[in-house]
Parts: sequence; structure tokens; C-alpha cells
Amino acid sequence: MTTTEFDHHSGEYARDWREINAGLRGRCPVAHTDAHGGFWVLSKYADIAAVTRDDETFSSYQELPDGSRTGATIPAGPLRQVPIEMDPPEFFDYRKLLNGRFSPASVKRWEPFLRDVTTFCIDNFIESGEADLVSALASPVPAILTLELLGLPTADWRTVSDVTHALVHAVPGSPEYNTAMGSMLGVLGQVNETIAARCAQPQDDLISELVHTEVNGEKMTDARLIEIITLVVFGGVDTTGSLVGSALEWLHHNPAERDRLRADPSLILTATEEFLRYFTPVPGLARTTTTECTVGGQALAAGERLFLSWSSANYDEDVFDRPDDVVLDRQPNRHQSFGLGIHRCLGSNVARLEFRVVLEEVLRRLPDYVVDTGRAQPYPTIAVVNGWISLPVTFTPGTRQGSKFAV
Ligand code: HEM
Repeated sequence: MTTTEFDHHSGEYARDWREINAGLRGRCPVAHTDAHGGFWVLSKYADIAAVTRDDETFSSYQELPDGSRTGATIPAGPLRQVPIEMDPPEFFDYRKLLNGRFSPASVKRWEPFLRDVTTFCIDNFIESGEADLVSALASPVPAILTLELLGLPTADWRTVSDVTHALVHAVPGSPEYNTAMGSMLGVLGQVNETIAARCAQPQDDLISELVHTEVNGEKMTDARLIEIITLVVFGGVDTTGSLVGSALEWLHHNPAERDRLRADPSLILTATEEFLRYFTPVPGLARTTTTECTVGGQALAAGERLFLSWSSANYDEDVFDRPDDVVLDRQPNRHQSFGLGIHRCLGSNVARLEFRVVLEEVLRRLPDYVVDTGRAQPYPTIAVVNGWISLPVTFTPGTRQGSKFAV
């Protein structure tokens, strides 16, 4: 067994994740760390793929004899998230409730709304010639769409976005995390109100659908509804914004590639997959062994926690040519950024659409943006989401275009 100092919550990992991952892949692809009560880090593409495809041996939710539990993150958070922290057969009952609204055909219908929201956000700063592209664009667009899709008030986007940022970047149990959980109670109050309102008067949104659906012949409890709704919020709000921020920062440093995308917007489709691979906005998630087993030649006992390092798999030299280079037309590109297996990201079609619309509009309306690299701030820790706190830019001012959306 190889023991490492690996800690995905550390500032060192946030700074040097590519090097740390490469070291693990080269030296000890199944490595043990004592951090957060001890867990195994899996770094090779094939080992992670095998684990995600065997839900009997590798569970997404275990209640332990000491009253604690394991889940999708290490350490596990205080609120259970469904269906990501659930195993078959129960898992399928819940995942199938959600699939319809996230299918490619359903998601396509959101494009005009997204275009409007993006236009609204850009209109807010286009005349000034300067903006923070995270707080003015990359954060609001996915947050507003997620709230609209659920049926929650879009005017609350900043509160929801701030709480989500705080919760995914603090270690569960730390003082910062507990403060963020306090703010989360306010958001949950709004969720409860909306659940009650939609029970009385359904509308065309996901919460209305969930409150009127039965699972195995019974309505869901409010607690279960909250486990599902908060997952859609956590999944939908911080992740895509991080991808947008990382790609815009990279395009600042690579103007020839930016020009290439502007000249040929059809390249955005493969470029999206490459940015997903290269930045891996969700660097890794967890499973727990249910029985003795072997992974990558390493014997494991039952009850061991595993960190599946998607961000390492995405640079595995056995799968990707020139993994350290951004190749905008890379094909094939079977990255693991949305996970694999039954828990594969529910919102992947939403994320791709949001990314494409925002990138198209930025390339069209502020093509010459320049990042103030001295003031741009990456996340100081990246355990659950890897992105940017702020991305101040300047550009040649433009004119407002007008949009049907307003908050
Ligand atoms: C770039 C953006 C995104 C990335 C990188 C991302 C990444 C992931 C990953 C890696 C998983 C797999 C978890 C596992 O196997 O343990 C996942 C699951 C999930 N994602 Fe995403 N996600 C993104 C956007 C979204 C959006 C926009 C939504 C919703 C609006 C969303 C909702 C979910 C949900 C509900 C699950 C759990 C699925 C299940 O357990 O069946 N995600 N995501």
C-alpha cells in the first residue's frame, strides 16, 4: 500500500492539482491518505470507470454503525442529496422522475430563455467597458436557469449562488461551512414555501411535478423533496459557472484560439468537451466499498471510502494523446467530467447549452476582453468545484441590446 498526503480540500491541491494527480498516476494509482478519517484516491481512468459501473460493490450512500454516513463527498455533508447519494434499486425510482426535464429535447427548449438571460446580464455592463465576468455573467446565468427550471424565484439568484459557492468550498463541519449552512436555512425556507404553493397550485416547473408525483404509490415527504431540490441547486449553480470562468480566462491567454472560435463558432461543440476535460469543474466524487474487493491490483476491505479523481482520469496518458494541451477539436474525447455509470450527470445537456450560449455571446459582444490577471482570483480550494471567484475584465464598450428577461 502507498500512503500519500493527498487532501483534495487543501490549498496545495487547488494550486497544483495537475502535478499532484500526475504524481499519483505515475507512482501509486490506488493510494491511501489519512486525511478526513482516511480514504483511497483512484487516479487511473480504467480503475475509476470500473468502479462507477459496479454499484453493488461501490455504494454511493452507506449508514455506518457509529451513526455517521458516507456519500458523494469526503467528508459527507450534513444534508443527504438524492439521487446522487442513493443506490439501486431505490435509485432508479428517483432518477427516472428527473430524466424527462433534462433530456436533450427538453433542454433545447430553454435556449431562447438562456439567450435572453445572457443578453440581460451583458446589457448590465456592456456600456461601461469593464466587468467581473464571474459575478456579472458566469454565476447568474446558470443560477437563474436552475431556479427557473425548479420554479423558485429567479430574483433570489445571488443568495442561492453565494450559499452554494460557500458550501462547496468549505470542509463540512468547519466554521465556514456551518456559517454557510445557516444561510442555507433561509434558502430552504423559500424552497418549503414553494413546495406548499405548488401543492395547492401546480405550474409548469420541476417542483410542481415532484410534489404531485408518487414513488411506489406514495407522495414524497417534504424532507425527500428537499433532498432532491437541493441537489439540483448544488449541481446546477456552481459547476457550469466554473467551466465558463476557466474557459474565458484561458481564452484571454490564448488569443489565437479565441479568434479561431470566433471565426468558426461550430468549433464550440468540440471545444466545450475539451474545456470540460481540461478544467474538470467537478474534480472528484466518492464511493464506499460494500464488500472486500480489489481495485487496480489493490485489495480493499468493506467500508473503505474511495475518491474518484475525474480530474486525474481526464489526463490519463493511456487514454488521451497530449493530455496537457488544449486541443479544441479533440475527437474522440471520452472525458469523465460528468462522471460515468448510473449517476452520470443529470444536467450535462443543460451545462453544455449554458456554456455554448454564454461563450457565443461573449465572443460576439466583447470579443476583445482583457482579463486583469493581477486581480483575477481562482478558488482557494477545489474539493467539489474548481473555478474562479472573480475575473475582472476590460473591453471596448458596446451598446445594450434589450432583453425580455429582467430581475
Ligand atoms: C459543467 C457543469 C457540470 C459538471 C462538471 C457536473 C458534474 C457532475 C458529475 C461528475 C456527476 C456524477 C456524480 C457521480 O457519479 O458520483 C454529476 C451528477 C449530477 N449532476 Fe452534474 N455537473 C454539471 C452540471 C450540472 C447541472 C447544470 C445540473 C442541474 C441543473 C446538474 C445536476 C446533477 C445531478 C442532479 C447529479 C446526480 C445524478 C445522479 O446521481 O443520478 N449538474 N454532475
